[in-house]
Amino acid sequence: MSHSVTISGTGSYVPEKVLTNHDLEAIVDTSDEWISSRTGIKERRIASDTQSTSDLATEAAKVAMKDANVIGQDIDLIIVATISPDAFFPATACYVQKNIEATNALCFDVSAACSGFLYAMQIAENLILNGQRKTALIIGAEKLSSMVDWEDRNTCVLFGDGAGSVILTADENNNKGRKLLSSSLGSDGRQTDILHVPGGGSACPITPDNADQKLNTIRMQGREVYKYAVNAMRRAAEDALQKYGLSSEDVDMVIPHQANLRIIEAITDRMGIPKEKTFINLTKYGNTSAAAIAIALDEANKTKSINEGDTVLLVAFGAGLTWASYLLKW
Ligand code: UT7
Repeated sequence: MSHSVTISGTGSYVPEKVLTNHDLEAIVDTSDEWISSRTGIKERRIASDTQSTSDLATEAAKVAMKDANVIGQDIDLIIVATISPDAFFPATACYVQKNIEATNALCFDVSAACSGFLYAMQIAENLILNGQRKTALIIGAEKLSSMVDWEDRNTCVLFGDGAGSVILTADENNNKGRKLLSSSLGSDGRQTDILHVPGGGSACPITPDNADQKLNTIRMQGREVYKYAVNAMRRAAEDALQKYGLSSEDVDMVIPHQANLRIIEAITDRMGIPKEKTFINLTKYGNTSAAAIAIALDEANKTKSINEGDTVLLVAFGAGLTWASYLLKW
């Protein structure tokens, strides 16, 4: 049994190609003004035709492994959180395993949309705490550009590609920093239809007849998702704080899911958390679903936006519906 779990490395990777709001003006009936004012997004990254989700995940993994000073053989658990896997099966985590030669690892994927990275952290934390695993590689990775309808302005302006990762290790003596303190996770399956990909699975296989309806692309009732997101994220954030006996005043930095600046501001305003304590990078990357918090955590770490001793709150929300929060002591 281990006493606590520590984040011993962080990493991220975004593809080179930048797609700006102005670029989108040439693709759909939209404007930089509309996208910026409604979402805060200015540009997003798009993977190349030859890059799959596991390629993005592998690049992010290598950065975290270097940061944590571990090699593939040291890793005994790989979880990839994604809704854009390389294929239905095998798991994207198995492709990553091959790429980094982590021959000792147990590998699987988690599908919880934008909350997936925190769901994966929770599973890994428990496997480490009960002594079954020692060194976990947790990745949030998405190639959402492959499942967006590029003729639907309601959705195509929102999403981007990228990957972020952490290495979690056992802290036997409970004396290291970057510790996982508490978490709060949940789901509401009554809301499956407000954000989903209706076709391509067993319920609605893609056929030549329905292919032109693009049923294998993202569909979203934006307003409904927005309302739900604000309440669910706030509840999850407050629950994780309460479990550790803290309040929003104790938080040094919130790293929220990077979907929409207005959603983030609505939550932090209600919680009384000032702007300077909120980490935002959606301006550059858009919504990268399961990758978003993972990329933001790595950037916050590497740019020293979070520092030793800081209380850091991660909070996410996504399709399912799902929500999750994690409290960390950096
Ligand atoms: O990771 C979780 C995933 N999703 C989310 O977090 C999304 C949550 N929801 C949102 O962020 C917002 O609802 C959106 C940004 C998606 C939309 O903002 P909104 O203020 O709720 O706009 P709306 O959907 O109510 O649309 C308002 C108008 C509509 O036109 P009419 O009917 O008023 O004439 C839309 O057709 O804006 C139009 N519109 C656009 N106009 C220009 C929708 N998309 C665009 C666009 N460019 N890209």
